[in-house]
Amino acid sequence: MQNIVIAIDGTSASGKSTNARLVARTLGFVYVDTGAMYRTLAWHCLQNRVNIQDPKAVAAACRRWKTSLICVEDELRQVRLTVQGYFPEKEIRTAEVSAAVPQVAAVPKVRDWMKKRQRECLQFGNLVMEGRDIGTNVFPETDFKFYLDASLSERSRRREADGVRENLAARDQRDSQRAAAPLMIPLGAVLIDNSGETPQETSARIVAEFQRRLAARQTHGNA
Ligand code: DC
Repeated sequence: MQNIVIAIDGTSASGKSTNARLVARTLGFVYVDTGAMYRTLAWHCLQNRVNIQDPKAVAAACRRWKTSLICVEDELRQVRLTVQGYFPEKEIRTAEVSAAVPQVAAVPKVRDWMKKRQRECLQFGNLVMEGRDIGTNVFPETDFKFYLDASLSERSRRREADGVRENLAARDQRDSQRAAAPLMIPLGAVLIDNSGETPQETSARIVAEFQRRLAARQTHGNA
């Protein structure tokens, strides 16, 4: 049987990472943070003084950088994109990278490159993949799509609790309005507003709905 993909999309700070990790751990799936892949390219461009305002320069940097996809196991199995053997973990979480990443993520050639790498992650097993276009663009064929959101005040509060102050509304607007694979609710996705919920509650809802859909698919497939 082909490996399963659970696609988790949603707005910034809507709890995608926390919930995707919990779901992956509960089900024994491999976790993939696609935002980290875009952040890594933004970081690489900043490091190498690539003009992020210039889509051609960004596309050329993306074509040339030397990367590998690896699957590591610490508290859960997860995929990492390394650049020349290095995994920039803390470096990609700075305000500077957050501000640069929507520009980089809007370049169509970058999105094509990322989509290929993200689909290659299937080699590692069943996946929980989080991002902005997973259910619409990267794995539109999957039966397991979720779209997370929460109120702007709640999301800003969560980011501040992580020690990051940023204009989430502006970033969401840029991610939703770009021409290439914009952030939107995938067809057939379960919409979850988790404003008043704990991650345990939200991830339990995702796991329950995944299991319901999987059972329905198996019944339907055997009918
Ligand atoms: O989830 P995050 O904040 O780490 O994502 C960083 C940026 O990358 C975000 O502004 C949107 C972009 N992104 C994207 O365009 N498509 C994805 N699949 C994941 C992230």
